[in-house]
Amino acid sequence: MARHLLVTGGAGFIGSNFIHYILRERPDWRVTNLDLLTYAGNLENLRDIEGSSNYRFVRGDIGDRQLVDALLGGDDWFGPVDTVVNFAAESHVDRSILDPSPFVDTNVRGTQVLLEAARQAWLGAGVEGGRRDVEHRFVHISTDEVYGSLGPDDPAFTEENRLEPNSPYAASKASSDLLCRAYFKTFGLPVTVTRCCNNFGPYQFPEKLIPLFVTNALEGQPLPVYGDGMNVRDWIYVDDHSSAVLAVLERGRPGEVYNIGSDSEVPNIEMTRAILRILGKPETLIRYVAGRPGHDRRYAIDASKIRAELGWQPAYRFEDALERAVRWYVENPEWWQRVRSGEYRRYYESQYGARLG
Ligand code: NAD
Ligand code: TYD
Repeated sequence: MARHLLVTGGAGFIGSNFIHYILRERPDWRVTNLDLLTYAGNLENLRDIEGSSNYRFVRGDIGDRQLVDALLGGDDWFGPVDTVVNFAAESHVDRSILDPSPFVDTNVRGTQVLLEAARQAWLGAGVEGGRRDVEHRFVHISTDEVYGSLGPDDPAFTEENRLEPNSPYAASKASSDLLCRAYFKTFGLPVTVTRCCNNFGPYQFPEKLIPLFVTNALEGQPLPVYGDGMNVRDWIYVDDHSSAVLAVLERGRPGEVYNIGSDSEVPNIEMTRAILRILGKPETLIRYVAGRPGHDRRYAIDASKIRAELGWQPAYRFEDALERAVRWYVENPEWWQRVRSGEYRRYYESQYGARLG
């Protein structure tokens, strides 16, 4: 079935990689990208597909009910939206510590607006009814951070783990996951939640560990490692996340949660050394700095459910994918230099005449 996807947050890191992935893998599908273009949204990530006949960009807020209603209710030549993939979020833990409010606005309220608009468009106002001839799907992109933190010998998170978020970011994502559950249980909205581990790859905003450290090292600036550097994250190449989301939207069961991960647990200090090794830069660039408050010690994802039930598996080996990702930043200095200097915003203004806050 040729779908029409409403991808939210598609100008961000994972969303833009996902749109590229979908247009490669499902060339007959149509994609509408709804993105507010916050500091993290960057239309340069999608420059190569601008003007494609099956892709379009709409600037706006997932919390804008009128706009979301119009997009979900619309029936122009793209056809009605049958699938929502919700990537839009405030996504950086450190920012959520400085100011949790935008995290609640977008991640919690924005998701609820999208869920409600999908309910109205797909099911009608009632609990029963709706167009049963169309296969609707709402895939909500969540994170392993909703499960909290693991001790060194704890088994990896399964979908059965309790939600024990520790940062305002993680709490806002856990809240949106619960709203998804409620919309499935109460209204029968076909919502599926995915919880993925830490992603890396091209177009990641250089506030997150890997692109920050790669670009700092390339500029000869220090790499600030929080605490003792022994916090562990489980890493996945972004295209493996995209292939898992595609499997979930095509074959996942509504009402279910699917963990996504590729068994690559790495302590931060090892990741830092690996980046310096790939770049041929000295370890003297490493600086230990104060840890982040409430810093989760360890994440690890057990992805056996998606592997067994949907036959999904990652295509990339961690070491190769890390080299590939680091190389991308080496080969695309204009991209990250414009992002780091803030100059990328001029691009939207010239393209869309938008005044950006
Ligand atoms: P990102 O910060 O790079 O991109 C977020 C995008 O959402 C940006 O383009 C931004 O402009 C847009 N956005 C923000 N608020 C919006 C709003 N109110 N309306 C419309 N658009 C809005 O984030 P990312 O790293 O690509 O993460 C995408 C999703 O994946 C998030 O939901 C995040 O929680 C989840 N996730 C991320 C990771 C990771 O490692 N980065 C891991 C697991 C899950
Ligand atoms: P980050 O990329 O912010 O992802 P998350 O906090 O969502 O896992 O951070 C990954 C890990 O790297 C986390 O343990 C915090 C650590 N970190 C640093 O040590 N220094 C930094 O400058 C940043 C941004 C992160």
